[in-house]
Amino acid sequence: MKVLSVVGARPQFVKLAPVARAFRESGVEHVIVHTGQHYDPMLSDVFFDELGIGSPDIHLGVGSGSHGVQTGAMLGALDAVIEEHAPDWVLVYGDTNSTLAAAVSAVKLHVRVAHLEAGLRSFNRRMPEEHNRVLTDHAADLLLAPTETAMGHLASEGLSARSVLVGDVMTDVLLRVRAGVGDRIGDAAARNGLEEGGYYLATIHRAENTDDHARLREVVEALAHLDRPVLLPAHPRLAARAAAAGIDLSVGTLRPQSPLAYADLIAAALGSAGVVTDSGGLQKEAFLLGVPCTTVRTETEWVETIDLGWNILAPDAADIASAVRRPRPSPTTATPYGDGHAARRVVEALNAAS
Ligand code: UD1
Repeated sequence: MKVLSVVGARPQFVKLAPVARAFRESGVEHVIVHTGQHYDPMLSDVFFDELGIGSPDIHLGVGSGSHGVQTGAMLGALDAVIEEHAPDWVLVYGDTNSTLAAAVSAVKLHVRVAHLEAGLRSFNRRMPEEHNRVLTDHAADLLLAPTETAMGHLASEGLSARSVLVGDVMTDVLLRVRAGVGDRIGDAAARNGLEEGGYYLATIHRAENTDDHARLREVVEALAHLDRPVLLPAHPRLAARAAAAGIDLSVGTLRPQSPLAYADLIAAALGSAGVVTDSGGLQKEAFLLGVPCTTVRTETEWVETIDLGWNILAPDAADIASAVRRPRPSPTTATPYGDGHAARRVVEALNAAS
């Protein structure tokens, strides 16, 4: 079996790591295409190195742009790559513009598409990620779902026959990396003069929080006035939008810094008193690490984190301060995100559908 993976943005490199490993262990021929959506070394190369993926086989170098320009450039460039490599499957990951471009290119070339992390829904049609998910799921031939909730969404859209519950590959990578980060816990905090357990870890990057100046100002103000220092690894989108709006990220309790490598982020989360984020991945990582999370959004796709009490939505920036001070949630033994062997099931599902 030959699989061509298309990735382009930071969370996709994390998801690719356990899948690439499972393919290597099973003797699957694997071609990795990087669209170039993320190009800063701290958003891209560091993940390939640190997570042992190796280098991408093909790099399209597409870079940033409006949704149409970026997605269209990838789509145009992918046709020739997919035709040349003629894989049995094109495997796409998550919900970025790279995901949609690869799904559309493959489906039009009559190459089968498998979507990893299928079936997630926010039901918020203003989110670019929601367009990407819905369109990709309906184009794909095989839907690899991370949770029972995702399977339910796929069923209600008439897609059950193509859906397989494999679990969440982010659990695979998190469990492996967590086992090795012990001595790094507190490093990121110490570099900023903070003590383990005495700070919050915050990440903000989504368009709905960064693109509107007034909204961004409210979120930054709220974070800057929390009751503990706030370590803020700043995504380039946040840094760019804050600079354009004249918003200083070094105010109050905020400690902005460069984006962190994966193990450093996990260590920073483990050493924190709580996570504040609009990232999907970090909501789950906090849950799996037993760190309370506050999500700066009106909804989440990862509803299990809310239902189990470890995550709380703070749709208004003014809600963040009370949310981070809430009592620690009760421990849970529930494993909604699988057992850490999702990547192996991805290989089995691809083989079974071949
Ligand atoms: C993308 C995904 C989002 C995902 C996020 C993870 C889409 C629609 N969005 O958002 O779902 O959660 O990745 O990080 O695909 N930039 C740089 N350097 C880079 C990449 C981007 O400076 O290496 C800056 C540029 O100013 C760019 C902006 O970030 O315009 C946004 O980048 P873009 O690729 O459009 O989306 P993300 O916000 O990263």
